[in-house]
Amino acid sequence: MIDLDNYNLKTIEEGHTKIQFPEYEKVSSDAPVFYNPQMEMNRDISILAIQCFQHEQERDIDICDLFGGSGIRGIRYKNEIEGVGHVTINDISEVANNFEMHNVRLNNLEDVEISCHDASMFLRANRGIFDVVDIDPFGTPSPFLDSAGYSIRRNSLLCITATDTSALCGTYKEPCIRKYNSKPYKSEYCHETGVRILAGFTALTLSKYGKCIEILLSHSTEHYMRLYVRIKKGSKRTDESLKNIGYISHCKKCLYRESNKGLAIAAPELCPECGSKLIQAGPLWLGNIQNREFISKMIDEADNKSLNTKNQLLKLLNSCKIESEACPTHYDVHDICKTLKISAPKLDLIFEELNEKGYKAVKTHFNPLGIKTDAPISEIKKIIVRLTE
Ligand SMILES: C[S@@+](CC[C@H](N)C(=O)[O-])C[C@H]1O[C@@H](n2cnc3c(N)ncnc32)[C@H](O)[C@@H]1O
Ligand SMILES: [Zn+2]
Repeated sequence: MIDLDNYNLKTIEEGHTKIQFPEYEKVSSDAPVFYNPQMEMNRDISILAIQCFQHEQERDIDICDLFGGSGIRGIRYKNEIEGVGHVTINDISEVANNFEMHNVRLNNLEDVEISCHDASMFLRANRGIFDVVDIDPFGTPSPFLDSAGYSIRRNSLLCITATDTSALCGTYKEPCIRKYNSKPYKSEYCHETGVRILAGFTALTLSKYGKCIEILLSHSTEHYMRLYVRIKKGSKRTDESLKNIGYISHCKKCLYRESNKGLAIAAPELCPECGSKLIQAGPLWLGNIQNREFISKMIDEADNKSLNTKNQLLKLLNSCKIESEACPTHYDVHDICKTLKISAPKLDLIFEELNEKGYKAVKTHFNPLGIKTDAPISEIKKIIVRLTE
């Protein structure tokens, strides 16, 4: 047992949960117990997602917080979500375990168990017992997804954080290939590509165990990406779901792009607009990455919770809801204007013109200057040029 009196304790409050951990100089994996205040919105959104998932089950749900740190997730889930039965908080660090226990007591909670195991070993030894598994590791979740695929049960909810955004976004290509077996590309929509690579890798990994994913919500925020997926089972269903895997082909010169579903497809080589060589990214998930109905329920649920980041998260959820039916990838107005060597017109005017011409056009949370539209790049350019004349 570690003596907590040996540490200078910091106390924080999120939602209506109080947590203590050793004071640190800066947020780092070297801190004795990890706590990152920047992740509060991530935790607030998780509370809404898990609550909506619990309502669908119409019974108490059991949750696993696989990488507990201070215990804040598991403790908040038990303290702030209705209909939660048993919560297990796991962490490989004994120091973290001691603070998790302390924080459970600080919040007067029962039915919360603390466990000290490697995440993969823990999942494998506890196959099929959780309704929700939250994977919030340092960096990449990739090494843990096989064990999640093996142990996760039908109709459960899997929540995944990835903080290795430089790999997923293609700043460094090789780490993405190593960790996600996918070639990234650093384009103006690379955060969206990153989320789709993470989703594609999750789908492919889980498929080995006859399981497939339905994405309820995904977002890229600051330094991390987060996925909420419902797990379904069955080989036929999984085969069908894998038809959402494919590739994006991108032209660096004129910003043309196209996406093609399929695993062993002949990728187009040359840009049909300007003849330049196309760059390929993938395999990645080309299916839906937002579920409009589920996100609407989350937005409604926010009224019932006390969350410090409510305004910020509602803005994000509303944006994710709007982009739920849009096609993969988006355009950045400033990047288009750079290729045209003109200054950018007002964003709203471009949306108006696109809609008037019968194209779908919506904003995206991935980029404040982004347009998700089914209009071809040549048409968007014509509109932008006309608006700046
Ligand atoms: C990013 S922190 C978790 C943060 C926490 N979920 C939160 O919201 O504040 C990652 C935690 O995983 C633990 N960890 C690292 N490797 C692990 C492994 N292989 N199995 C289980 N826990 C591990 C670390 O001790 C650390 O506490
Ligand atoms: Zn081109």
